[in-house]
Amino acid sequence: MKVLIATEKPFAAVAVEGIKKEIEAAGLELALLEKYTEKQQLLEAVADAAALIIRSDKIDNEVFDAAKELKIVVRAGAGYDNVDLDAATAHGVVVMNTPGQNANAVAELVFGLLVFAVRNFYNGKAGTELMGKTLGILAFGNVGRNVARIAKGFGMNVQAYDAYCPAEVIEAAGVHAVANQEELFATSDVVSLHIPATPETKQSINKALVNTLKKGGILVNTARKEVINEPELLELLAERTDLKYVTDIKPDADAEFQQFEGRYFSTPKKMGAQTAEANVNAGIAAAKQIVGFIKEGITKFQVNK
Ligand code: 3PG
Repeated sequence: MKVLIATEKPFAAVAVEGIKKEIEAAGLELALLEKYTEKQQLLEAVADAAALIIRSDKIDNEVFDAAKELKIVVRAGAGYDNVDLDAATAHGVVVMNTPGQNANAVAELVFGLLVFAVRNFYNGKAGTELMGKTLGILAFGNVGRNVARIAKGFGMNVQAYDAYCPAEVIEAAGVHAVANQEELFATSDVVSLHIPATPETKQSINKALVNTLKKGGILVNTARKEVINEPELLELLAERTDLKYVTDIKPDADAEFQQFEGRYFSTPKKMGAQTAEANVNAGIAAAKQIVGFIKEGITKFQVNK
């Protein structure tokens, strides 16, 4: 039975080795498709795969049609907006994610981006500090919680809002819970986004909301580009010359954002989860979930129920 790792953005080699060990110890065979450039390569590679491990790779109906043997797809990571869940269900394929496994890596990058931003992208001019500033965390999931932990070390005032996580849970983690996302933006110096891309969140980070950030405000996005209303954010950056936008996901309108040199930065490729540790954690979790499903029918972490 073949397990295929299909990663346009490859795992660290040490993670691939770890996955291979798990898969082979269970008597399964591992195949690898990395850095593919054409969808056709993916369509050919999945033809005889019973299980698939992916990252942000787009798995749509055409892929499910081509994968005649496929029983399970595990997205080694948190967000599964890249997988067509309805198509998976229609093809009788189980889809899982590996929540939390790469959360610390993403959270650490938030602070990499933030220090870079408050020190004026290391241009040599006097910057500001994070200590004493208020950080608003939008969504208190695994990444948001890690961001809160690290922010406390920087001496920031930490507050959060999550539409699905009760205020008591946020407060129990030693973080101030605000009533809604409007209050979060209006009372923060920095807002860090950790919401998934869903029909409700798409384009929800708009001009009216971001415009309420305090003077010198910074918006950090290591979540998804789809949650940003890009035309409105561009408009706002032109009007509010005190604001900065730093992101780990290149906007569709990257070329237009580039005009805000010194106030805008995007990593060249999404790299929040691109650490050896995160790749090992998420990759091995994915392998174990596949083995557990194939051998024992365990469906914990299934997302297309
Ligand atoms: C996730 O949803 O887990 C992160 O966005 C990481 O995505 P990646 O595996 O493409 O780096």
